[in-house]
Amino acid sequence: MFPNVPLYPGFVMPRGGNMQLTCRKARLLCVVIMFNICICVLMSVKWNRRRHDKDPRKVRIPSERFWRPQIASESFWNKEQQRLDFLYNPIINSALSDDSLVVLPDWLNDTGPLNPCDPDYRVFTQISDYNSLPQRFHDFLLHMRCRTYPMLINQPHVCDESPFLLVVVKSLIPHFDRRQAIRETWGRAGVFANRTVVTVFLLGNTSPLDNFPDLLGMLGHEAKLHNDLLQWDYRDSFFNLTLKEVLFLEWFSKHCPLAQYVLKGDDDVFVNTLQVIDLLEGLSDNKAKDLFIGDVISNAGPHRNENLKYFIPESVFVGQYPPYAGGGGYLLSGELAIRLYNASQQVVLFPIDDVYTGMCLRKLGLAPTKHSGFKTFDIDIKYRSTPCIYRNLVLVHSRKPQEIIEIWPWIVNPELDCQ
Ligand SMILES: *[C@@H]1O[C@H](CO)[C@@H](O)[C@H](O)[C@H]1NC(C)=O
Ligand SMILES: *[C@@H]1O[C@H](CO)[C@@H](O)[C@H](O)[C@H]1NC(C)=O
Ligand SMILES: *[C@@H]1O[C@H](CO)[C@@H](O)[C@H](O)[C@H]1NC(C)=O
Ligand SMILES: *[C@@H]1O[C@H](CO)[C@@H](O)[C@H](O)[C@H]1NC(C)=O
Repeated sequence: MFPNVPLYPGFVMPRGGNMQLTCRKARLLCVVIMFNICICVLMSVKWNRRRHDKDPRKVRIPSERFWRPQIASESFWNKEQQRLDFLYNPIINSALSDDSLVVLPDWLNDTGPLNPCDPDYRVFTQISDYNSLPQRFHDFLLHMRCRTYPMLINQPHVCDESPFLLVVVKSLIPHFDRRQAIRETWGRAGVFANRTVVTVFLLGNTSPLDNFPDLLGMLGHEAKLHNDLLQWDYRDSFFNLTLKEVLFLEWFSKHCPLAQYVLKGDDDVFVNTLQVIDLLEGLSDNKAKDLFIGDVISNAGPHRNENLKYFIPESVFVGQYPPYAGGGGYLLSGELAIRLYNASQQVVLFPIDDVYTGMCLRKLGLAPTKHSGFKTFDIDIKYRSTPCIYRNLVLVHSRKPQEIIEIWPWIVNPELDCQ
């Protein structure tokens, strides 16, 4: 740093008599140091300028010595996210509208398709191992930016009387029996413990790619019979669950913004709805506002073994996951659901839906809270048939439709004495 400054190995604080002489020495030393700093700064500025002259495409961010240089990540998702972070950064935004003070780095130039729902062919060149990735990554990456799909079945009036609790179940078209078991038990819409509960099921569409039989006639019948299905026209696949989440949040903001709480779960979970209402009624206003509870996973990161369901390659994503609540089921406030929708517009779709929700929460500066009543990894096998165990649980994964129907009376039957 300061090559010309001599070292003073024996420099000790002086005492009494030598005071004047030492003061002069110290002043001299200060002057020498200042001089050296000036030379250093001048040289580094000149050096930077020369580098820019050579390469005009270089990011012109003043004095790289003091500012962290902006370098695009090599991973596709991270790169897309960096772009969004940059665009939504309020300081940079105001500088941009100000004038050309900020010189944007070239990697910010958006070279993606004009229409976000057209296939994004950049993936072929920008993801080094694209061709060797499993097919589901091709399906996901090509359409990663598209978030608008037409709604095929809507229930715009289910929330006309704003419910205390909106139960939202992620389902698939062929799962008729699972939905019916939920309607007959823990997801029964109506008044529960003196609170209104409304239930909706979230569905995508069957794609010819997945060889489904034609179930749309039966689905139409079900929709008319129960008025509780929401369906969008996209291919319902594992990696599109994030789409299901985002489309639901959009629907919620539009059609059910006054619901006090939202319970979101899979169609193979058992929920103790009475326990949920009990838990919610005990909340202070302050806690209720930012409520997001579930089975929280912290310090997780992407799996790099490509045989796993949750495999994510380095060419797509690097970094740790934020704390997130397992997608089997979680509980949040309606107010937070609306803020999450807002945040989701600033977070690039990630193929694992519960991790994605954790990312949106983090955007809001929040983290989910762990609650021991959420058992997304099930309970000890020896207690699974013990009726009273279910009285104190909030949610357990996974249960078959017939098991759900067996367990439900254990919760609501007043004759079962669990003391
Ligand atoms: C990025 O955009 C700027 C103008 O906005 C242009 O001057 C520059 O050449 C572009 N860079 C690339 C790599 O396209
Ligand atoms: C039911 O709830 C309403 C308001 O939601 C309240 O006024 C009423 O007292 C409650 N009834 C009982 C029996 O708790
Ligand atoms: C998600 O759905 C869209 C629309 O149907 C489709 O283009 C895309 O390939 C799907 N993604 C996955 C991972 O299946
Ligand atoms: C949503 O975000 C926009 C900016 O993107 C902001 O103006 C608006 O206030 C936000 N709304 C809510 C409800 O947070």
